[in-house]
Amino acid sequence: MKKIISIVGARPQFIKHAPMQLQLQKKMNALTIHTGQHYDENMSAIFFNELNMPKPDYLFQIGGSKPQGEQTGIMMTEIEKVCMQEKPDAVLVYGDTNSTLAGALVAVKMGIPLIHIEAGLRSYNRAMPEEVNRIIADEFAHLLFCPTNTAIENLKREGIEHPRIFKCGDVMCDMIQLIAPKAARKIKEDYYFATIHRPYNTDDDKRILAILNIFNSLDKKVIFSIHPRTLTRLHQFDIAESDFSNIQFIPPTSYVDSVSYQKYCTCVITDSGGVQKEAYMLGKKCITLRSETEWVETLHNHWNTLVFDHLEDIYNALLTTPTNYIENMYGDGHAAEEIVELIEKHL
Ligand code: UD1
Ligand code: UDP
Repeated sequence: MKKIISIVGARPQFIKHAPMQLQLQKKMNALTIHTGQHYDENMSAIFFNELNMPKPDYLFQIGGSKPQGEQTGIMMTEIEKVCMQEKPDAVLVYGDTNSTLAGALVAVKMGIPLIHIEAGLRSYNRAMPEEVNRIIADEFAHLLFCPTNTAIENLKREGIEHPRIFKCGDVMCDMIQLIAPKAARKIKEDYYFATIHRPYNTDDDKRILAILNIFNSLDKKVIFSIHPRTLTRLHQFDIAESDFSNIQFIPPTSYVDSVSYQKYCTCVITDSGGVQKEAYMLGKKCITLRSETEWVETLHNHWNTLVFDHLEDIYNALLTTPTNYIENMYGDGHAAEEIVELIEKHL
């Protein structure tokens, strides 16, 4: 039986790993490393519990608030020790976080085949750490699983073209198809659901204040799930949540609650990659506070609108009505099954 080590560390990776681990453990000796990049109960353990995932085999305590290099370096040191001991047949990484980068670099340096889930995504903004992380993972991956044709085309443009690149749909679609039908409405009144955590929106006091002022001026209440990075910044900048009466700040929610808030809101407002996609999967209009997105398919027919330099553009974006919804744009809910079959065949 092949031994595979999956590496997770940040909130969206726990959600992506849930359907994958279920399939992996049927066919392989499937171990999980949690790098500890996210560590609060409601950013980490909550997902293992509610999504019935086995506890990680290895959990590192890397501690928060570290510069990129230090954070990645500590993770690499620890992942390398585990790989030396376990001698896996492959290392599997998801998406584009520093945990992805650490896992990818250790695997390639040790000559262990690397598997990249959510390969080929590009924002073409190299100032984002995520763009650097995903380029490196794609460059060195032995097996690449792309969720869209755009992702395959992006790889081709970089000269990454070989028979081990597959389009398999998106594993987040597997999760949402399972959970969405069970997600009950949490509040009666109409509302917008917001999540904001990108450094360019949170780490500048004027920018985050401008975003909060816009949210506060909207015609419906804004339910704002506040990421720990964002909360830390508000406290650093002496911005008081109580000054924004139209915003209901809530701690990061469970996955089921996140899906529920998205499913029943009037519009999603976010800078999250995963939430943009989930909004589309739920047939919900989305406004993304970024100047570009790697999930370009969501932009068609006004399902998703980018707003960045002029935050007042949110008002107009809220008035548009999206058209021509494409069913199963991100897969049919069986991506993990298909991916694991291909891993088994090609390892
Ligand atoms: C990371 C990823 C980003 C992803 C996001 C998902 C990188 C470079 N960034 O961003 O791609 O979209 O996760 O949510 O990998 N913190 C806590 N408790 C936690 C987690 C974080 O307090 O459980 C605080 C710490 O102060 C930490 C800060 O949030 O310094 C930022 O965390 P970090 O993981 O470095 O980056 P994210 O902004 O979460
Ligand atoms: N999410 C959640 N609770 C929240 C906000 C988001 O469970 O309060 C989920 C969301 O449904 C999606 C994932 O977290 O599945 C997205 O993760 P995040 O926005 O942290 O990271 P990104 O996708 O931008 O990398």
